[in-house]
Amino acid sequence: MKEKRTLMLPGPTPIPKKARLAGAEEIIGHRELECEELLEEVVEGLKYVFQTKNDVLVLTCSGTGGLEASIANTLSKGDKVLSLCTGAFGERYATIAENYGVNVERLDFNWGESIDIDLVEEKLEADNKIKAILMTHNETSTGVINHPKPIGKLAQKYDCLLLIDAVSSLAGIELKTDEWAADVVVTSSQKALMTSPGLCLVSVSPKALKAGESADLPKFYWSFKRAKDRYDAKKQTPSTPAISTLYMLREVLREIKEEGLENVFRRHKIVTKAIRESMKAIGLKLLVSDKIASKTVTAVKLPQGIEYNVLRQKLIDDYNVYITGSKGQLKGQVFRIGHLGNVSRIDILSTISALELALLKLGFEVELGIGLQAAQKVFYEEERR
Ligand SMILES: Cc1ncc(COP(=O)(O)O)c(C=O)c1O
Repeated sequence: MKEKRTLMLPGPTPIPKKARLAGAEEIIGHRELECEELLEEVVEGLKYVFQTKNDVLVLTCSGTGGLEASIANTLSKGDKVLSLCTGAFGERYATIAENYGVNVERLDFNWGESIDIDLVEEKLEADNKIKAILMTHNETSTGVINHPKPIGKLAQKYDCLLLIDAVSSLAGIELKTDEWAADVVVTSSQKALMTSPGLCLVSVSPKALKAGESADLPKFYWSFKRAKDRYDAKKQTPSTPAISTLYMLREVLREIKEEGLENVFRRHKIVTKAIRESMKAIGLKLLVSDKIASKTVTAVKLPQGIEYNVLRQKLIDDYNVYITGSKGQLKGQVFRIGHLGNVSRIDILSTISALELALLKLGFEVELGIGLQAAQKVFYEEERR
């Protein structure tokens, strides 16, 4: 018999049972009252998770679609933006803007490091034409958190927009949209929101909507105005939404509300600590320091002599455990464990166990159980608090 699948990717993530069942609901027409009520509950639930009073628009696409939309709806051809790149997803955001004819200044940081706020201020001070700052809250390719709060302050001081890719952070890592002055925040359904792929959720501030009035980049399907007008008038989306994913998302949002956002974030922190301590105990090196470590994904350096593809396949073949590698300059150098959304402590312990066994079988010297114990200690201490 095949082992039960353990999905430890930074998205898509496992879907809680109630949400999976909700996804099996009979399809309804998207212009029916029932669908309007469904969408309205989802939007209200999202406002709680985004910690915002801004409009939250529901787009039918993956996260990348929302990132495109954030550019197309706030900027004009030739506008200058400052793109803060700490890894592959920061680079992607910059590339999207370039593809739309935006004048992008990239501020690159070493992969594995977070944004240096002083350098951001230097750039803004030196150039008063910058209309927007693009940033990645959680750089999934390296497992680094970039803090939006100080960047939001700079965006206010220098009167530009702050656009945030929160695809792999929202609902896993704190993001106070309103308090931190984030103008557009983009996330998607298949990450910490624990549902099927298919929906992209975007909060848009009044300042971003105002900027949109004069933004001349082409858009139709991605138009925030069309989405907002339709929602305000009828609690509908302009085109057919991913209705089954909406059902799932409603269920997940109810569960998040019941658990409380603070507890959700705490759970992610504990799981992160357990993974990090276990990797150290096994003798593996973490890519990034504890201080800037993501709470949704952890990148671990591959030990000498162990190839990523071989390790990945061993984990799948022997234990049905799924991890992933990285991209760009980190390709083949690290493996990444996703730990966001519906990941239990037992999933973490199983993954660590499987990893120890796989590494040992591939010739890496590890004392079986040493990483497991380190993670158990973290859980034990946290549970006794
Ligand atoms: C930070 C970040 N941005 C954007 C994306 C792209 O999201 P999607 O695959 O939903 O288009 C991802 C996906 O992993 C991501 O982690």
